[in-house]
Amino acid sequence: MTYNLPAFPAVPHLTGHILIDGKIRDSGFETKPVYSTCSQGQPLEIGTTSQVSIEILNEAVAAASKAWAKGLGDWPMARMEDRIKAVVKFRDGMLVQREIVCRLLMWEIGKNWADAQAEFDRTIQYIDDTIAEVKNMDRESGRFQFAGGVMAQIRRAPLGVTLCMGPFNYPLNETFTTLIPALIMGNSVVVKLARFGQLLWEPLLQAFADAFPSGVVNVVNGRGREVVRPVVKNGKIDVLAFIGSSHVANQIKIAHPQPFRFRSILSLEAKNPAIVMEDADIDNAVAECVKGSLSFNGQRCTALKIIFVHKKIAQDFTTKFVKKVDSLVAGLPWEPNVSITPLPDTEKPAYLNELIKDAVQKGAVLANPERGGKLQGTLFFPAILTKVPLNARVAIEEQFGPVVPICEFENLQEVEDYIIDSPYGNQASLFGKDPQKMGLMIDHLSNQVCRININTQCQRGPDVYPFTGRKNSAEGTLSVYDALRSFSIRCMVASKQDATGKQVVQEILRSDSSRFLSMNVVL
Ligand code: G3H
Repeated sequence: MTYNLPAFPAVPHLTGHILIDGKIRDSGFETKPVYSTCSQGQPLEIGTTSQVSIEILNEAVAAASKAWAKGLGDWPMARMEDRIKAVVKFRDGMLVQREIVCRLLMWEIGKNWADAQAEFDRTIQYIDDTIAEVKNMDRESGRFQFAGGVMAQIRRAPLGVTLCMGPFNYPLNETFTTLIPALIMGNSVVVKLARFGQLLWEPLLQAFADAFPSGVVNVVNGRGREVVRPVVKNGKIDVLAFIGSSHVANQIKIAHPQPFRFRSILSLEAKNPAIVMEDADIDNAVAECVKGSLSFNGQRCTALKIIFVHKKIAQDFTTKFVKKVDSLVAGLPWEPNVSITPLPDTEKPAYLNELIKDAVQKGAVLANPERGGKLQGTLFFPAILTKVPLNARVAIEEQFGPVVPICEFENLQEVEDYIIDSPYGNQASLFGKDPQKMGLMIDHLSNQVCRININTQCQRGPDVYPFTGRKNSAEGTLSVYDALRSFSIRCMVASKQDATGKQVVQEILRSDSSRFLSMNVVL
């Protein structure tokens, strides 16, 4: 495979900074080099990132605790309109950095130029939608409720210090889908960056510092395994927003001295199945399954990670699937029409090869032996495995990469049993036409996963829809609407619905003496 020279100039070499208590620091902590695998040879050093110690992570948590001030800090006590103003100021500052952030998404994680821009723009859209939703929520909660002789106003209040840890595959968007709702609801936040996609936060630090009061947003990076649990152990973090593996999530949660007081919003691993029935429109199923399994090299929690195809159409499906995959353009993320790009993790190809070897040993067939699994650097051409037995590792583990297992079935019960026994419960895709069979399968799947996609791939968006999972796949629900609720708690002001009660409440409202008990709405 030959590469063209990058059409985009290389990113400037960026030096790792951290943001604590409103100050951007460039020293006093260890750093480590950041390498890009989007090079024509060895990984290329493109910058450095912070590797903070337990002490510095504790300092970031202390800054967030100071801003929270046991719930009485300026930020948690601020009126919603002031918080919205700060978020808008940040959003405008972020927009100025669009190009450099998108370039860094290409260099750091190999996201192609179109997808890098889509991730950035989707994040801006998420911020705008969150602001619109928070205004709705504010308007709704402004109304009084009356029941059983008690009148009440019910609003949502923040929870405290939040630790936000996003994933490397959407280091911007997914982190922001927890960070922005946490902030706008009045929490203070420590962001610990993901394994890859750290430099792209550098151009945003000043915008954070300019928009939010000191300590409300703190951004650091470090070896999660070494620093996170000892800090969580101190019990000073109230909320965990984590996108990663269920194993790590569990370890972090049990490190908290009082796990029941540690609100957790988690998006974890998945093994989303596609089920292609015998009457499915094969061309559509192939197109959707290729997109679903291989967009961003299969590195999406919502990727299709196992494909079940009815035996009667398996041959036709596979032939078309292989042809379509063969037509995918592989190369560097800035090359035109490219979809298969280098993986950011240099250790991943070896793992993917182990999965292929194991499956083939157990009877699977590599359906595209000429290109499937071929490597250049970390650019791994998708491997399609057919006749995969369900005891193969690739049928069990979340591959999170460009290896596609296809299994044949005759009886839907076999597929159902697999899904029921799976430790994951995120989404499924169902391809077919027969309303009876489809209807029954929808009913059965609805108690196993949290989104059933009809004749289309699995996906998270649009972000106004609920994104969650069962079993090891999630805790809590994220969407523009749900995230605002996940990062807050309802608190009500109640009074007897008698003359005295009404008079006191009316006086408070009239004198505008309370930010919380108020009829003011944000327009
Ligand atoms: O990696 C998980 C993402 O939330 C997937 O989002 O389905 O829009 O690619 P997506």
